[in-house]
Amino acid sequence: MADVKVLVLVGSLRAASLNRQLAEVASETAPAGVSLQLFDRLGELPFYNEDVDGDNVDEVVQALRLAAAEADAALVVTPEYNGSIPGVLKNAIDWLSRPYGAGALNGKPLAVIGTALGQYGGVWAHDETRKSFGVAGPKVVEDVKLSLPAGIFDGKHPRENADVVQQVREVVEKLTAEVG
Ligand SMILES: Cc1cc2nc3c(=O)[nH]c(=O)nc-3n(C[C@H](O)[C@H](O)[C@H](O)COP(=O)(O)O)c2cc1C
Repeated sequence: MADVKVLVLVGSLRAASLNRQLAEVASETAPAGVSLQLFDRLGELPFYNEDVDGDNVDEVVQALRLAAAEADAALVVTPEYNGSIPGVLKNAIDWLSRPYGAGALNGKPLAVIGTALGQYGGVWAHDETRKSFGVAGPKVVEDVKLSLPAGIFDGKHPRENADVVQQVREVVEKLTAEVG
């Protein structure tokens, strides 16, 4: 099988983001033939505005859409902000949802995981991210769920937790199994 490319979006811009570290684990443990590509410019995206969307859209939006077009699947790794999706991620969803009916991730499998400080590990944000991407066009893989309370990392990189490494590995396996 040809290499499977997975676009990775992280819903935190923080340099020491635990979600970014979780995305690193996903990359490090990906099965042979699967490559993960982090799109690291969500913070540069302008706010979505229909007036500026179209043929001459901002370069960073073009880069996001190109990265999405080149991917076979997408993995979203996000914290929860105030019980919901961080704004920077919601903005990316809105850009990826257009052109209407022809977004660059349309029909492609997408899974949502992440970690947050609260005891439920950001499950509200993860559910709402699934809901929003489900409207935006990708094929959300609903049975891939991983919402990790950040306390389990004990201040260490998630790669040092063998259970977490195994769970993240399974997420990527299940996600890429949906590529058809
Ligand atoms: C603006 C803001 C809102 C937050 N709201 C929540 C929340 O609703 N639920 C929660 O579990 N954690 C919340 N947190 C804590 C984050 O889960 C925590 O900072 C997490 O580590 C952020 O992810 P990161 O390490 O990838 O940056 C919030 C943090 C910030 C900065």
